[in-house]
Amino acid sequence: MDQIVTICGDAITELKKIPDGTVRLIVTDPPYNLSKDYGNNQDKLRFDDYLDFSRQWLSQAKRVLTEDGTCYVFMGMRYISYIYTILETELGLSFNSWITWYYTQGIGKTRGFSPRHDDILMFTKHPKNFVFHLDDIRVPQKSYRSINNMRGANPGNVWTFSHMHYCNKNRKNHPTQKPEGLFERMILASSDPGDTVLDPFVGSGTALRVCQQTGRKGIGIDINPEYIAMTRRRLGEEFTGFDSIDDRMKRIPNDLNDREIREEYIKNHIAWFLRNHPDAVAEFLEGVRRKYPNDESVSVPTPLLDFFNEVVSG
Ligand SMILES: C[S@@+](CC[C@H](N)C(=O)[O-])C[C@H]1O[C@@H](n2cnc3c(N)ncnc32)[C@H](O)[C@@H]1O
Repeated sequence: MDQIVTICGDAITELKKIPDGTVRLIVTDPPYNLSKDYGNNQDKLRFDDYLDFSRQWLSQAKRVLTEDGTCYVFMGMRYISYIYTILETELGLSFNSWITWYYTQGIGKTRGFSPRHDDILMFTKHPKNFVFHLDDIRVPQKSYRSINNMRGANPGNVWTFSHMHYCNKNRKNHPTQKPEGLFERMILASSDPGDTVLDPFVGSGTALRVCQQTGRKGIGIDINPEYIAMTRRRLGEEFTGFDSIDDRMKRIPNDLNDREIREEYIKNHIAWFLRNHPDAVAEFLEGVRRKYPNDESVSVPTPLLDFFNEVVSG
C-alpha cells in the first residue's frame, strides 16, 4: 500500500472494501448532523436516519480495526450520548477516555451558555491489549524538581486548541477544519510509525497530513471530490511544523537554576516536546533567554539546536 491513500466516495461503501483487521487506528471527525454545508452534502438527516448512518459506519470501523486497535470519534453535544451507546452497548468496544476539546472562543448565546467545546470518544477494540505511548504525548512540567519526571506529565483529557481561524496560514476552504495538534496527539499516542491510520471523513485532510509527517500510513475518505483535491494539494505543501500546538509545550520550567541541568533540559525539551514544531523553537529559546537572562547556554551551538535553528530560519 502507498504511504497515503485518498479515496473519494461514501464512507460506508468504501469502508466495506477494506479487509478485516487491517487498521491500527481510526481518528475521525464525522458530520455532526448540524446542517453544515459541505458542498455536495448537507449534513441534515432525520434523527433516526443519522443514528442508522452512524451505526453502519461505526460497525464497519470496528470490523477493519486490528484486535489491538483504537478508535477516536469527534462528536458534538447533540448526538454524543447516542454515539457512546452505539460504541459501547451495541458494538461492544471498550471505553477508554472522554476527551474535551476546549476551543476557547465561538458563537455567543444570549439565552443560555455559549458553547466552548466538542468532545472526542476514545474506545479500544480490546479492553487491555492496545498501544498507548504516553512518553510521546507528555507535556512539560511547570517547575524543575529532582523528584519530578522531567520527561513531562500526562496531558489530561481537556485539550485546549483554538479553532482554525481564517488568519491561520494553514486555513483551508473547509467549514470544519480541525487543528493538526489534536490529531498529532491521538496519532502519536495510539499508533506506531508504519501503522495504518484511517479517517473515513477526512475533509481538508488534517489526519492525513499528520500521518504523513509522523511516518504512519494513512487512508482518508471523503464524499466531496473538492475536499479530496484539497487534501492532495495539502499533502504536497512544505512542512514547517503542525499548524497548532498546545501552549504548554512551550512552557519553560521554573527553578532550572543549575546551568548544566538547564543546558541538558533545554536540548531535551526541544527533542521531546517540539520535534514536530520546528517553527516554535525560536519562541521557546527566546522565552528561555527572558526567564534566565544571564545565561549564554542557549546560544551554545549543539547539533540539535543548529538543526532546529536551520529549519526555523528556512
Ligand atoms: C467534520 S468534516 C471533517 C473535517 C476534517 N476533520 C478536517 O480537519 O478538515 C466531515 C466531512 O465528512 C464528509 N462526509 C459527509 N458525509 C460523508 C459520507 N457519507 N462519506 C464520506 N464523507 C462524508 C464531508 O464532506 C466533510 O468533509
